[in-house]
Formats: sequence, structure tokens, C-alpha cells
Amino acid sequence: MRIPSRIHLKWIARIVLITFGEILLGGFLFAWSGLYSVAASRGHLAITNAILTFGMRNSVKTHAAGIVPPSLDSNDLITLGAAHFQSGCAHCHGAPGAPINPIAGSMLPSPPNLATSMREWRDRELFWIVKNGIKYTGMSAWVADQRDDEVWAVVAFLKRLPALDAAAYRDLALGGLPVPRKVAVKSRQPNAHRRR
Ligand code: HEC
Repeated sequence: MRIPSRIHLKWIARIVLITFGEILLGGFLFAWSGLYSVAASRGHLAITNAILTFGMRNSVKTHAAGIVPPSLDSNDLITLGAAHFQSGCAHCHGAPGAPINPIAGSMLPSPPNLATSMREWRDRELFWIVKNGIKYTGMSAWVADQRDDEVWAVVAFLKRLPALDAAAYRDLALGGLPVPRKVAVKSRQPNAHRRR
């Protein structure tokens, strides 16, 4: 194979720079024109959805790589996590016996029902998501930065969640009290419009 001369390299560098500049300028002009719709009432294209989900999944996996989970089997830990879930998560994600709030369901992406349609995550990845949140989605970060133990309690509960019916959830999260059903209306399109 021939080694490119210095003149060739100069030309290649020039073309790369010009292409890069054009992409930047094109992006700026597109944003400036306002042609892109930021409406949350319409979903993303399937390809946009796939790219965003791909990036999000890989980001979580990479950032969670060094985290070592503690044992998550303790019933006390699960009960504590259930109480946190009821007060901090259920109004967006719903819970057994309480469907997703229709207002939260209209978010883009909409919060999935974590009991029935959570993506597959390792424990350490769930921990990372609950502790840090997911940028640009409305999934908020844990409120107390120093309380990893409380985050692990939520992770312990999330693992138990798919096995709970409404009564078991009520016992665990509310000590047997009825689940508040203020907004007991089905989400518009459960999970169908997650990051469309
Ligand atoms: C303001 C609404 C809101 C609140 C409150 C909220 N979330 Fe979320 N959550 C979201 C949204 C939106 C997503 C992103 C869904 C997506 O990317 O498709 C999400 C994603 C997630 C995911 C990843 C789900 C998946 O299938 O990949 C987990 C796990 C999660 N949330 C757990 C929690 C927990 C635990 C709490 C409470 C500590 C909580 N969330 C509080 C809105 C919320």
C-alpha cells in the first residue's frame, strides 16, 4: 500500500474540516429555523427511538460497570423500598392496583409500568438509574445523594415488584391501607408510546 504524501494528508485534513464545519452549520441552521417540532404530543420516529434507546442502554451499562451490589434479599430492605416506591415513583410509574397517572403517561418517553414492562437490567444498572435518573426523559435522580442504602432498598423492591398483586403491594407499601386511586384511569397507550 502506498503511504500518502504530505500534500495528500493536507487535502484529507482540509476535506474533513470543511465537512465537519458544514455539518455544524447545517445543524445550527436547522435549529435556528425552528422546523424541528419539540411537541411531546407526537412520538419520535422509530429510528430515532431505536438510536436513543441504544444510547441510553449503553450509557447506563458503562456507567454502572464498577458498582458492586450488596445482598438484596432482606424483607426489611424490600419493605423500605416499597414505601419509597409508593411515595416517590408510583405517581409516574403506577403500581399494582394503581394504573399510571394519565398526565405522567403523556410524557415523552412515557414512564413504563415497572411491574409489567421494565426493560432487562442488572441490579447495579437499576441502582445507577434510580440514583442518577435518565437525562432528557423526565426520570429524576434520587433526592439524597449520600443515601445509597436507600437506593439499594428501592432496587431490592423493584426485583420483587413483578411478583406482587394489588393486595400484596398494599401490604408491603402501605401496611394494608388501600392504594390511593385518585387517578385510576388507564394510561392512553400503555408503553406503546415509550420513546417513540
Ligand atoms: C416524573 C416521573 C417519574 C418519576 C417520579 C420516576 N420516574 Fe422512573 N422513569 C420515568 C421516565 C419518563 C422514564 C424513561 C422511560 C424510557 O426511557 O422509556 C423512567 C425510567 C425508569 C426506569 C428504566 C425503565 C426501563 O424499562 O428501562 C426505571 C428502573 C425507573 N424509571 C425507576 C424509577 C424509580 C424506582 C422511581 C422512584 C424512585 C422513579 N423511576 C421515579 C419517569 C419517572
